[in-house]
Amino acid sequence: MRANLGGEIAPDEIIGRDRLIERLWRVLERQSLILSVERRMGKTCVIRKMAAYPPENKLIVLRNVEDLGSPLEFVQAVLQDVEQYLSQYKRTAGKAREVLRNLTDFELKGMELGIELPDIAASHWKILLTRTIEDLLEAREGDRLIFFWDEMPHMLRQMDKKEAMEMLDLLRRLRQTYGGLRMVFTGEIF
Ligand SMILES: Nc1ncnc2c1ncn2[C@@H]1O[C@H](COP(=O)(O)OP(=O)(O)OP(=O)(O)O)[C@@H](O)[C@H]1O
Ligand SMILES: [Mg+2]
Repeated sequence: MRANLGGEIAPDEIIGRDRLIERLWRVLERQSLILSVERRMGKTCVIRKMAAYPPENKLIVLRNVEDLGSPLEFVQAVLQDVEQYLSQYKRTAGKAREVLRNLTDFELKGMELGIELPDIAASHWKILLTRTIEDLLEAREGDRLIFFWDEMPHMLRQMDKKEAMEMLDLLRRLRQTYGGLRMVFTGEIF
């Protein structure tokens, strides 16, 4: 075993939790879920293990969102994750890019890490987020698409209240619209 100098342990060093993980995969067949227990109980380890060893036909996107404080920052992160996934197939998030192109003459230049969206995109975050998720849904070839967003409650607390409610509403609408889409929110609710 490698020494863990305060960083993350590797997925293969995450011990046990297999029964819980099996149960969570079963729940995810039917619905999205929130995983909230007290700090340091192993939430992040559980979802990292799930993301590292997914069952067949599941496309997993895992991201810690605790440092994101606005809808635009969240959209930027999701777009980056989606484009990173699509780049394996030499594809891009075409619908999202088109929204951006229509807003300004803003062009995403390849898959640079840390893409910064233009300010004008802030007032269009809903359509951008929708198109970004649709871009990945279109590419997934029947796989279930599951976003794991760790520290989601923390992100929502940093947003202003109206934005946070609008974010949750939009994510709910997307889940209702797309049967193959699931979301897992982890973190402390209170
Ligand atoms: N299944 C496990 N196998 C090995 N180590 C674990 C396991 N679960 C938790 N740990 C250890 O406990 C620490 C805390 O776990 P983790 O970060 O997953 O908890 P958390 O519930 O996400 O905490 P927080 O609420 O602070 O984010 C990890 O850094 C890891 O060292
Ligand atoms: Mg955690």
